[in-house]
Amino acid sequence: METITLNNGIEIPIIGSGTNTYGKEGNEYRGALRGDTQEVDWAIENGYRHFDTAQVYNNEEVLGQGIAKSSIPREEFFITTKLNTFEGYAGADWAHIEIEKSLEKLQTDTIDLFLLHNPWDNPAEMLEAWRILEDYYNRGVFKEIGVSNFKEEHLDALLDGAAVRPAVNQIKSQVGTWNEALIEYNTKNDIATVAWSPLGGIDEQAKQTLEEIGKQYGKTFAQVVLRYNIERNVIVIPKSHNKERQAQSLAIFDFALTENDRERISRL
Ligand code: A2P
Repeated sequence: METITLNNGIEIPIIGSGTNTYGKEGNEYRGALRGDTQEVDWAIENGYRHFDTAQVYNNEEVLGQGIAKSSIPREEFFITTKLNTFEGYAGADWAHIEIEKSLEKLQTDTIDLFLLHNPWDNPAEMLEAWRILEDYYNRGVFKEIGVSNFKEEHLDALLDGAAVRPAVNQIKSQVGTWNEALIEYNTKNDIATVAWSPLGGIDEQAKQTLEEIGKQYGKTFAQVVLRYNIERNVIVIPKSHNKERQAQSLAIFDFALTENDRERISRL
């Protein structure tokens, strides 16, 4: 597995499994609470060791359970989760309670990467929340800390007051919305980019082009898009309810795109 070295030296596998639909029908657990870990089990069997969850996905327990019952030691996994800031920030006590819940649900003493899930309209509060993440980082509970869905102006404000630089910015970057300028901004600031839903946004026409490119290498449209991302050092976290498709998404290290391929993909 190829990795990217984050800005404090820790390595993150360049492909991980997204999870926001794992273990669930809609937002409800499919099995009993802590029951059904099928997609996580498959992903582990397929060789995924990097998993991306979030408090708002309502399935940290499912991931924690799947990892705990696998025969693989915890330290071989890279786990990301995120503070649920979609409704803003409800204060330091709230943040501490939610973070401790994540640790408990994931059945772990440490989290490899912990993110603020979404910016909100209050830079002073964002800095306060960031300082809480920094405290967990300084105590070694979080190995890396970062942000998600932050735009340039949010990062500018955060970087002004932060003692610890965010290791990643997890953003939308997919066919039709590559967000190149933001990726460049991240890179310039030594912040790695993670693309959520990397297989989203692909319409029929784009799919045809991607399939045409993939045919040269015996690869599918999905493998071409994922390969495109890792070739530009963007970390990807696709998810699938299908064990074979999960495996396919990992099989992207045995071919390389040409400059012409990359040019065509960038124009989609
Ligand atoms: P499915 O669960 O039926 O496999 P993303 O993670 O980018 O949001 O994409 C998720 C979507 O992409 C899901 O609908 C998933 O469907 C599909 N998907 C995941 N992996 C692959 C793959 N290797 N090939 C084709 N489709 C895939």
